[in-house]
Amino acid sequence: MSEARKVHIKSFGCQMNVYDARRMADTLARDGYSETASAEEADLIILNTCHIREKAVEKVYSELGRLREMKTESESEGRRQMIAVAGCVAQAEGKEIIRRAPSVRLVVGPQNIHRISELVARANAGEAVVDTDFAVEDKFEQLATPKPEVTRARGISAFVTVQEGCDKFCTFCVVPYTRGVEASRSAERILAEAENLVAQGVKEITLIGQNVNAYHGRGLDGRDWTLSKMIARLAEIPELLRIRYTTSHPRDMDDKLIEAHRDIEKLMPFLHLPVQSGSDRILGEMNRKHTRAEYFRIIERVRKARPDMAFSSDFIVGFPGETDRDFEDTLALVREVGYAQCFTFKYSPRPGTPAAEMDAQVPEDVKSERLYRLQELVERQQHEFNLSCVGKELDVLFEKPGRHEGQIVGRSPYLQPVPVMAAKSIIGSVARVRVNELRTYSLIGELVADTPATPAANSIPEVNAFA
Ligand code: 5AD
Ligand code: SF4
Repeated sequence: MSEARKVHIKSFGCQMNVYDARRMADTLARDGYSETASAEEADLIILNTCHIREKAVEKVYSELGRLREMKTESESEGRRQMIAVAGCVAQAEGKEIIRRAPSVRLVVGPQNIHRISELVARANAGEAVVDTDFAVEDKFEQLATPKPEVTRARGISAFVTVQEGCDKFCTFCVVPYTRGVEASRSAERILAEAENLVAQGVKEITLIGQNVNAYHGRGLDGRDWTLSKMIARLAEIPELLRIRYTTSHPRDMDDKLIEAHRDIEKLMPFLHLPVQSGSDRILGEMNRKHTRAEYFRIIERVRKARPDMAFSSDFIVGFPGETDRDFEDTLALVREVGYAQCFTFKYSPRPGTPAAEMDAQVPEDVKSERLYRLQELVERQQHEFNLSCVGKELDVLFEKPGRHEGQIVGRSPYLQPVPVMAAKSIIGSVARVRVNELRTYSLIGELVADTPATPAANSIPEVNAFA
């Protein structure tokens, strides 16, 4: 342990980056770094970047321009600041970042963050450090676990990475190039991480991975385990109340995983299952490896296993060659499934991916118009879904104090925020709420009397600060 220093990590993009940021912070804590929300007061600033869409690279350079000015100013006051770039743009750009933005002294790819301490030490000693080779060692083994008080401060819901990378090679996507091929962690390590989190008061775990349902890690019995098996084992942890997983690929929704939704009560009835397009022709061009009919069939089977299941999806509009007819197929698919929530994106050509080289790129104004129409539809569906919850009783996991005095906010099984008037001791437990009203995206309700909160609130370690 050395002198007290501060690190500021700014994360962009997906949950994998949120998770990586936390693990970098945990690992740097061993070197005396504590986290700060202010870039100005940090000794080390890490931009944890995302490369999935839009002008990601240009955004990083303009952010670096702002940081350079800040660094120059603090240096004029005699302070030193180190700027590092991590994440998928770091992986894709490598040493080009230091060439274009010499104020950056460290570039580290997502597969190398376990070496962060050593890399920062080298950069602090004056070296310009670039580490983007895919590491052969197990990075998860070397990343530090969070200190108990840090886990408690992060709240009762946590992410655990179980799988990284992707072998699907959808033609629009950079992930297989930036995060590498699919790799799963062993059940033993996942379980140890989950048990450690639960011991500090975590009640909900979301298993994350770019292609999480392709999980096939070494099981406790030495055989490969699937995601459903891993979920079943985690469900045996008594104090863990809820389990979720994201993001899934339709091709990997196997029978056992669908059955898990029927059999494991802790597994929440909310599934993010991106389809991207409703047109078979475009699905083929995207190399999605499934048809529209196959997707409908999966939705139907999941709904049969768990009738109260709600779905969300990602959509891309304006993929090369997408016609009005293809887009109408997407709208029709959305109407047929009826989603609780959707993420919609304009196609953005990613350097090095096959779709970026395709003819018939769709003009920007057509993409914008389609995005607008799709968003209008999915927002209407989301509103209808939220309205359908009014008048129902839902189990809510309470997370933190709300904005108003005496209010505690929790989440429904469908991740909707639910504020109720309740005692603080309810935080960390599940209780039944009668939903009376929808206010924007929040469900306003009241605790149903005589339903005991699970578990008894006094079995929870003190949780008093939230991320
Ligand atoms: N352009 C637009 N959206 C993309 N996504 C991935 N790559 C691209 C791209 N090149 C979207 C997909 C994916 C989500 C994480 O981001 O919908 O599911
Ligand atoms: Fe990208 Fe397709 Fe893999 Fe998802 S499944 S990470 S969209 S290549």
